Amino acid sequence: MDILKISHVTKTFGTKKVLNDLSFSVPEHSVFGFIGQNGAGKTTTMKIVLGLLERNQGEVFVNGEKVIFGQNTTNKYIGYLPDVPEFYDFMTPMEYLTMCGQITGMCKNEITERATELLKLVGLNVENKRIKGFSRGMKQRLGIAQALLNSPKLLICDEPTSALDPMGRKEILDILSSVKEHTTVVFSTHILSDVERICDRIAFLHEGEIVLGGTLEDIKNIRNGESIELEFLTVKDAERFLELSAGGEKIGRTKLLFSKRTERDMLEMMECLSQNQIPVVRLERLEPTLEDLFLEVIGK
Ligand SMILES: Nc1ncnc2c1ncn2[C@@H]1O[C@H](COP(=O)(O)OP(=O)(O)O)[C@@H](O)[C@H]1O
Ligand SMILES: [Mg+2]
Repeated sequence: MDILKISHVTKTFGTKKVLNDLSFSVPEHSVFGFIGQNGAGKTTTMKIVLGLLERNQGEVFVNGEKVIFGQNTTNKYIGYLPDVPEFYDFMTPMEYLTMCGQITGMCKNEITERATELLKLVGLNVENKRIKGFSRGMKQRLGIAQALLNSPKLLICDEPTSALDPMGRKEILDILSSVKEHTTVVFSTHILSDVERICDRIAFLHEGEIVLGGTLEDIKNIRNGESIELEFLTVKDAERFLELSAGGEKIGRTKLLFSKRTERDMLEMMECLSQNQIPVVRLERLEPTLEDLFLEVIGK
């Protein structure tokens, strides 16, 4: 079942159309990467899903229930970490989660149990200092714990890793992938390597539309032809092969790159190498990175 379904949503700010007939769905128990450059409309989309922003057209369903602007009934299924989470700096993490639990009407024992479990999950269980002294990464981790407090079916995180260093990013990504058995995770980002690390599915938002979407595997397969990189022992060998095999490009002293090649092309290259007795150090089929694919679909 789709925990989130966005159907033909359009959003304009004044005369500016930010989302243009946007549609995509998120199946349960996936980690879903919502990718787009700054200003693409990721936060806008998330706010529409949360019923915090009014859409001009289209419908949104969370767990099969329609989202109505200004009402928060569907938010009982959602845990949300905004792009810049705000905390009361004078509190400890436990005090903060307790307050959040009280606001949402959880009972005392449930709060203590759940908060203890979550602080352990995000690695803040030994942290007794006040939030004031927290690093950005620690604040993001506390934000995730808070968003998971009422065991949501859908966790939405708005750019949870964008402001963090590589270590902090890894910690967040590890937490997000560890919760996917219990909750579906949707997170927005412009960092493509984060997506490649933990997502099952993605949607690329560009100029108000999804220009690329689906499982990571399918997306990598849609490209017609792969790149093949060859490395030779000597410059002379590389140059000889380049003369024999058209369309190659020199990318180093002894390295050549052939793009958009089929398996058949690859076999022909191997035959050519063998017939002409050119030894190679390496012949490798390169998997396209998401970045390659993204630049390709937006035509850059
Ligand atoms: N309240 C608003 N009023 C006018 N324009 C807005 C408002 N919120 C966002 N925008 C514009 O909508 C576009 C998308 O913004 P946003 O959803 O924040 O992008 P992202 O989160 O992908 O960086 C941007 O051009 C932004 O300037
Ligand atoms: Mg944003």
